[in-house]
Amino acid sequence: MRLCDPPLIPARAIQKLVAELATAVDRDGDGQDLVLMTVLKGAIYFAADLSRQLETPHRLEFCRARSYAGNESTGQVQIPIWPDKSLAGQRVLLVEDILDTGRTTAVLLDRLKLEGPADTRVCALLNKPSRRVIPIPEDYVGLTIGNHFVVGYGLDYEEHYRGLDAVHVLEDDGSSGLDGG
Ligand code: IMP
Ligand code: MG
Repeated sequence: MRLCDPPLIPARAIQKLVAELATAVDRDGDGQDLVLMTVLKGAIYFAADLSRQLETPHRLEFCRARSYAGNESTGQVQIPIWPDKSLAGQRVLLVEDILDTGRTTAVLLDRLKLEGPADTRVCALLNKPSRRVIPIPEDYVGLTIGNHFVVGYGLDYEEHYRGLDAVHVLEDDGSSGLDGG
């Protein structure tokens, strides 16, 4: 695999997108408390930056959905991590790194519905609508991208590259190793 340079979304552009999303969430929420429900692991960098940009009072919760092996969706989604505190009557913002097939989001929204929240919205830094298999709400989306596999700013390929501060396209160059070997 080959990391493409320059980045698809440079660090400064990401921070601008996050600020715009925070402004939109603040505007719609009218100052009412929010639960930032971060989908582990990919969304942690995005959620941490979003949290610091939001003026809306909010608490942090986390969930984990597993649907990916390498860069291919298995179609199966498990929820190994879920908040133990009730979400009943709360306004919940599901914070995701990227909306791809929509399977993960659909499963998490179904699970959330069981909690009886007052409101549920989806906020994702990136969106790949051309890959969608299941329709899902796209309440707050930072940037729509084409059918690329991207890494960085939380997004991984087999747990690599999460810590990059920009988002890069990862290209299949025919090699199986991550270090050119
Ligand atoms: P979905 O269930 O197909 O929408 O998959 C969503 C999850 O797959 C995302 O939250 C990511 O963790 C992962 N994913 C989807 N596209 C990419 C990508 O381009 N790079 C890295 N991870 C991705
Ligand atoms: Mg992943």
